[in-house]
Amino acid sequence: GKGIAVFTSGGDSQGMNAAVRAVVRMGIYFGCKVYFIREGYQGMIDGGEYIIEANWSSVSSIIHKGGTIIGSARCMDFKEHEGRKKAAFNLVEKGITNLVVIGGDGSLTGADLFKQEWSVLLDELLKEGKITAEQREKYKSLFIAGLVGSIDNDFCGTDMTIGTDSALHRIIEATDAIVSTAYSHQRTFIMEVMGRHCGYLAIVAALTSEADYVFVPESPPPDDWQKKLCDKLEQERNVGQRLNIIIVAEGAIDRNGQPITAEDIRKVVVDNLHQDTRITVLGHVQRGGNPSAFDRVLGSRMGAEAVMALMEADENTDPCVISLDGNQAVRLPLMECVKQTKAVAQAMVDKQWDKAVQLRGKS
Ligand code: F6P
Repeated sequence: GKGIAVFTSGGDSQGMNAAVRAVVRMGIYFGCKVYFIREGYQGMIDGGEYIIEANWSSVSSIIHKGGTIIGSARCMDFKEHEGRKKAAFNLVEKGITNLVVIGGDGSLTGADLFKQEWSVLLDELLKEGKITAEQREKYKSLFIAGLVGSIDNDFCGTDMTIGTDSALHRIIEATDAIVSTAYSHQRTFIMEVMGRHCGYLAIVAALTSEADYVFVPESPPPDDWQKKLCDKLEQERNVGQRLNIIIVAEGAIDRNGQPITAEDIRKVVVDNLHQDTRITVLGHVQRGGNPSAFDRVLGSRMGAEAVMALMEADENTDPCVISLDGNQAVRLPLMECVKQTKAVAQAMVDKQWDKAVQLRGKS
């Protein structure tokens, strides 16, 4: 049977285990030898005990667990040619030519580069006498399917990334809790949520908590945001509201690209309105804990589809990313999606806010 390896890379997210489980079991179902690569790309480079064969029961009782049982890492060595060569050697040794990578855009970009370089890497290994001509021929093609695991929902091409729904569950539990104490004390709360350069978690958090104001990176507030914010908070208090909630994405910026922090906002509220104001930073709580039903199903479906894509791949098949489109699992060209995702980031750097919002809307 074919050799398939699955690994998780970059920040963990809830639902990754469901995806790992589906890849292992679907692979076994198709008669493949399935391997875990522990600790992401670093494990691929280090080889040995980091690449271990999985069996049906090695993925029992993991679907409900948060994080990733096979470990993850943000790996620097894989960015180097030498690192990728070591990784290629370890894969050939084990007869692995199919990879399922579960991670964010950086991890998926790395996989695409690896695929492009594969022949060169094998040629070098052959020349150095590390692999045989027979191995060079037998393992000449590498096949890749990517799954997007990230709580941020920051990847173009898929409606939801694996982990986002669970993070939102954490967030609304927290905002509901904050609302009740804020109400009692007539306080204003500024809640900082994750999402790096993506405002999705912040927007949904704001909608579901009846927030008065939200700050996101893709669409910075007007230059006089301090006044607009204070007017809005005051207006709500004047009609009898006992509390105010402000959601700020950790990557929020102003129209000059400068950060707007929870502390900046607190200062504006306290100095101008003298409201009793507190900050809550949710942090990694959002990435922890058990996956929601949605993320368990999403991870399972995406993992199964990834293996099917690999089974159907031939010499001419480019790396794909398995995406959710409506309620369908679809295969999209990996690099196109990465390119689009990078275009959103670029639009923000260029301060082209309309374009950033428009491109993000397509993601
Ligand atoms: O990409 C997921 C994420 O949780 C972001 O929302 C956040 O900015 C980042 O990872 C935090 O990274 P780290 O876990 O390395 O601190």
